[in-house]
Amino acid sequence: MTQAWTPSSWQFHPAAQQPEWPDEDELHAAVKTIAGFPPLVFAGEARSLQAALGQVSAGNAFLLQAGDCAESFDDFSANSIREKLRVILQMAVVLTYSMGVPVVKVGRMAGQFAKPRTSPTERIGDVDLPALRGHIVNDLRFDAAARTPAPERLVQAYHQSASTMNLVRAFTKGGFADLARVHAWNQEFVASSPEGRRYERVANEIDRALHFMRACGIDTESNPALGQVDVYTSHEALILGYEEALTRQDTLTGRWYDCSAHMLWIGERTRQLDGAHFELLRGVGNPIGCKVGPTVEATELLAICERLNPARLPGRLTLITRMGASHVEERLRPLLRAVTDAGHPVVWACDPMHGNTFSSANGRKTRDFDDIVSEIAGFVRAHRAEGTWPGGIHVELTGENVTECLGGADKVLDSDLDDRYETMCDPRLNGRQSLDLAFRVAELISGSSV
Ligand code: PEP
Ligand code: CO
Repeated sequence: MTQAWTPSSWQFHPAAQQPEWPDEDELHAAVKTIAGFPPLVFAGEARSLQAALGQVSAGNAFLLQAGDCAESFDDFSANSIREKLRVILQMAVVLTYSMGVPVVKVGRMAGQFAKPRTSPTERIGDVDLPALRGHIVNDLRFDAAARTPAPERLVQAYHQSASTMNLVRAFTKGGFADLARVHAWNQEFVASSPEGRRYERVANEIDRALHFMRACGIDTESNPALGQVDVYTSHEALILGYEEALTRQDTLTGRWYDCSAHMLWIGERTRQLDGAHFELLRGVGNPIGCKVGPTVEATELLAICERLNPARLPGRLTLITRMGASHVEERLRPLLRAVTDAGHPVVWACDPMHGNTFSSANGRKTRDFDDIVSEIAGFVRAHRAEGTWPGGIHVELTGENVTECLGGADKVLDSDLDDRYETMCDPRLNGRQSLDLAFRVAELISGSSV
């Protein structure tokens, strides 16, 4: 039995992973403040993204969704946002050229502040405190004051998202995304490491294509579109009061949209079919993602598709699979078959990060570049076998030269992890590892080495 949807109907469903706010009045005041603020994105933009994702579901485009595991209130500078964007644009150039299809770029940014936790508390010595739930809720410092959920953080998250969004719009429309310039950065990477030189051929081909275009009179001056790109925003819609406060009715169509980001996803820990997260997102017009881990069964996955996309709109639903490198192929194939047979036009994206996390010898949470590549390779093989389109990747990365994941072009070692381990939450690929990954994915999908 399905009740009528409203922006607050989620409140009648069990809501997993919500903080225990100590003061309900403060929470309501914060949510009310946000409800009075302007939307962060516009319904028309969410519709454009859905149309672009519709192309992905039809096999005519590829999705690159990438950014921090968790954005931080402390690491919020123009530099770090620019560097993250730079890497996403660099990856997109490689993927676009190699695959010959448009790349839909979606940042895990401008709102990716909330984290689900396996355990609600963390113990150090004999002290138990609430677990870190991301800067939208509490702080990392291990003391009672920092870990107590603080509703004013919801308001701060809104403001930081607004400034990040503003900068993303400026960078992507103001010349920073110029194709020739982005390619020049890629060439630097290719030239500067032995592993990178493996990609020299592709880089040279892109170079020739750009020269050819220039010779034909197609350059940024004559064609400003070459200097502009669309980068959409996304985050896990976890803290439901915040998402409700930004859920607004579109004046053009009368439909409701969650205007906190263009795309929202439901995490592996909150994807209960009758849960509050499904209830909120089923009613908004945005494109929606749902993470699915190795325990999901085909019948459950079909129920997810029915609930989130009963009208079977192409681009509405992205299934982000995170199976782990060792069994991705065998787990994925029956799911691909079931969803295809049922006629659901989904985007299939591979999150090769969350099923491949382990603790390094010195206790750091890490991921190995080779496992990440290996999960994507299994994902591609499964799609090839079933005749479906490996539509995209969903990765955690930063533009900075951090040392959080092992391996990659510069061979980050276990003993390097302490050098620059800066993540708020999960280990991210650094700028060079990310670009390395883009070249590998290009090889895998354009067919040379699966
Ligand atoms: C995440 O994307 O950071 C995350 C928590 O993923 P998952 O829900 O797949 O565990
Ligand atoms: Co993560």
